[in-house]
Amino acid sequence: MSTSDSKTTQSLAALGVTETAQVTPLFANVRARFDSDASAAHDEAGWKQFRDAWLGRKSGVLTQITDNWLKPATPELKRAVGASLNELRAHVESHVEARRLAIEAGAEEAALAKDRVDLSLPGVIHPIGSHHLIRQVFQEVEDIFFSIGFSVVEGPEIETPYYNFEALNIPEFHPVRDDMDTFYLELPKGAPTPLLLRTHTSPMQIRTMEQQKPPVRVIVPGKVYRRDNPDATHSFMFHQVEGLAVDTDITFCDFTGTIEYFVRQFFGPSVKTRFRPSYFPFTEPSVEFDVSCPFCGGTGSSNGGTCSKCKGAAWIELFGAGMVDPAVYGFVNYDPKKVSGFAFGIGIDRLAMLKYGIDDVQIFFQNDVRFLRQFP
Ligand code: DAH
Repeated sequence: MSTSDSKTTQSLAALGVTETAQVTPLFANVRARFDSDASAAHDEAGWKQFRDAWLGRKSGVLTQITDNWLKPATPELKRAVGASLNELRAHVESHVEARRLAIEAGAEEAALAKDRVDLSLPGVIHPIGSHHLIRQVFQEVEDIFFSIGFSVVEGPEIETPYYNFEALNIPEFHPVRDDMDTFYLELPKGAPTPLLLRTHTSPMQIRTMEQQKPPVRVIVPGKVYRRDNPDATHSFMFHQVEGLAVDTDITFCDFTGTIEYFVRQFFGPSVKTRFRPSYFPFTEPSVEFDVSCPFCGGTGSSNGGTCSKCKGAAWIELFGAGMVDPAVYGFVNYDPKKVSGFAFGIGIDRLAMLKYGIDDVQIFFQNDVRFLRQFP
């Protein structure tokens, strides 16, 4: 800083100033020095030094001018020196303050700049996924049954033969076990019971009735396993929704009405339904439930040829169902003379394929995003 200019420490006489005309250039000179000092102060410490050099009471430049120039000035010069000094004082005071504000603002800006988030950088993308089509169809089925008073229960995928077979009226060596080629777990010798991967969701009928007294109205969504070779219609793991309703006065009409309601909600009001007699050890009577082919409108033909989906049959087999066999109630301490009910087991993969026109079950398990993105 160039503040210590000896001129302001000398008297006007010593500087050879004797006329009014010399006063103005003298002050202009001081002011120029001030301006250059001001722009040299860049931080708070520099600014304090600068302020004291100019405004300090004891030896600041303004004090020096007052003491050395104004006070001893001749009467002829006093007026001009006084006026110039006032002007200079006003300039110095306002600019010292302005400089402080500028430095503060600069510091703030620097701090902001340091913390600033660079919005021009590409962000990290967190793609949002969607539910798998199987999950979506589960949800559709659940919503329909919710709306008529069913609730959802879930059960273990590892089961005992008792729940998977025996309590469902399928004793050992019953031929129906051949239809369900079963994965058994390898267990240490002496294990209390064999364990298997459930071949259907029906064991949850037993577990539910063991846990609660009638009325029972549940659906059971879940995964099931059978030793099948994978092809367009088979997979060693697939999905079912079991249904069970038991009460003191459930009739075959309740059964058909419920199932028909479900199918119309799911496929639309125009589909037709029919029952065919069938056999399951845990229902009596047992039925296979068919729906008029949703692809050809139940005509069996499409585009002048045979409908490729129902192979001209006009009907598509949907799922098995029936009235709960009284023998089953014996396993859960229900009185078969007092209660009746119905059950059904819906294959979800099949239902999804029918509704969304998918012709290969394997596509569900490959998880190719080009497929998944079609069902956002
Ligand atoms: N559990 C049978 C299966 O997986 C499907 C089934 C048929 C379930 C009839 C039922 C039923 O509840 O009543 O093949």
